[in-house]
Amino acid sequence: MKSLKVAPAKEFNLVIDNIAPDKSISHRSAIFSLLSDKPSTIYNYLQAEDTLNTLKIVQELGANVKKEGEKIVITPPKKLQEPTNCLDCGNSGTGMRIFCGFLAGVEGFFILTGDKYLKRRPMDRVTEPLREIGAKIDGREEGNKAPLAIRGDNVLKPFKYESSIASAQVKTAMILAGLRAKGESRYSEPELSRDHTERMLKGMGAEISTFFEKERYVVEVKPLNKPLEPLNITIPADPSSAFFFAVAGAIIPNSQVTLKNVTLNPTRIEAFKVLEKMGAKVEYRLKENRYEPIGDIVVKSAPLKGIEVKEKISWLIDELPALSIAMACANGVSRVRNAKELRVKESDRISSIVENLRKCGIEVKEFADGYEIKGGEIKKAKVNSFGDHRIAMSFLIAGLINGMEVEDVECIETSFPNFQEILAQISEVKSGD
Ligand code: S3P
Repeated sequence: MKSLKVAPAKEFNLVIDNIAPDKSISHRSAIFSLLSDKPSTIYNYLQAEDTLNTLKIVQELGANVKKEGEKIVITPPKKLQEPTNCLDCGNSGTGMRIFCGFLAGVEGFFILTGDKYLKRRPMDRVTEPLREIGAKIDGREEGNKAPLAIRGDNVLKPFKYESSIASAQVKTAMILAGLRAKGESRYSEPELSRDHTERMLKGMGAEISTFFEKERYVVEVKPLNKPLEPLNITIPADPSSAFFFAVAGAIIPNSQVTLKNVTLNPTRIEAFKVLEKMGAKVEYRLKENRYEPIGDIVVKSAPLKGIEVKEKISWLIDELPALSIAMACANGVSRVRNAKELRVKESDRISSIVENLRKCGIEVKEFADGYEIKGGEIKKAKVNSFGDHRIAMSFLIAGLINGMEVEDVECIETSFPNFQEILAQISEVKSGD
């Protein structure tokens, strides 16, 4: 088990143009390329464990993946093939849930599996609605836990599904099932979750319409009557990865960080808005619009004040661990509520955040659906990542104040392999004992 030690940082002014490419868009670009009959071209695909696992699965389904310099070209097979191996999603809940929806309507037998963390995470949020429309899926705990076995078939019924949670993974799985169903389907969620799927599939020519009705976000999907157009996409930098360095820029006095070519999709930058409300200076510089608005984000340090966060939780779910570090540095009390989804991420993020902040001498109260943090001074401590990349990176950023040792940091490879290299431009980073 590898551990990392970070030393306190001095003021810095850093321009970062190599933030990891977006994980959500990378997964989708690989999987959606299978919906076309022509080669898709993807620039800046995320070369991290989660998305490389997805790419490998796409290959096992018969696609040809060719790396040509800066781009990858994915040529789909004439007919998707039944793989001889189990399909390993590694640590990725996104990969596993999206593939469930995709494979449910593809003829063949597929087994989806993953690492010990992924095998603990709930899958019934996708397996139940998919079974209701005729998908044959089974797994441990009656289909709730991986490994999952899918007997894919051309039998999916059109549906009207009202999801009780705002989850982009569930939405994507159901939209993909809807594309293969025998009629028009309708999916709705209580609040708009990240909408890369809708943007990308519409861009590829899918007949998808989206609107708000009775305060719910609705997606109507018509089944595919021909292959979609291929993707030609440059993956922007991942705002969830960029946000670690936004917090660093906000909490180290007299500092500034410029995060280049990040997606400015409103469903992804809410955490930057929260940081702004806490007092940090944040500027957005829109540069282009291709599938998504893309630009630079500049964050300048300032004294932070406590904040209450209880709305638009799905827009900041991945950034809450890093935001909790900003909250621990703020003046006053901060509160996060309505965030029980945090308990079923790569770790139980509520207990990971609470336990680690307490080790750093910060007063924290735990709730079933969130936590309360009393701002103070983050002390040097030895904390664990609980195998969760976002917990590992958040506490390395916390260490920029007074130093920190974080154990079990291999998980950073799942989303942000060059995180340590960038962190080392701000402060000294060493391997632990
Ligand atoms: C993701 C959706 C989010 C997020 C995850 C990536 C996606 O989960 O936490 O890291 O790419 O669809 P939800 O399904 O809970 O929205």
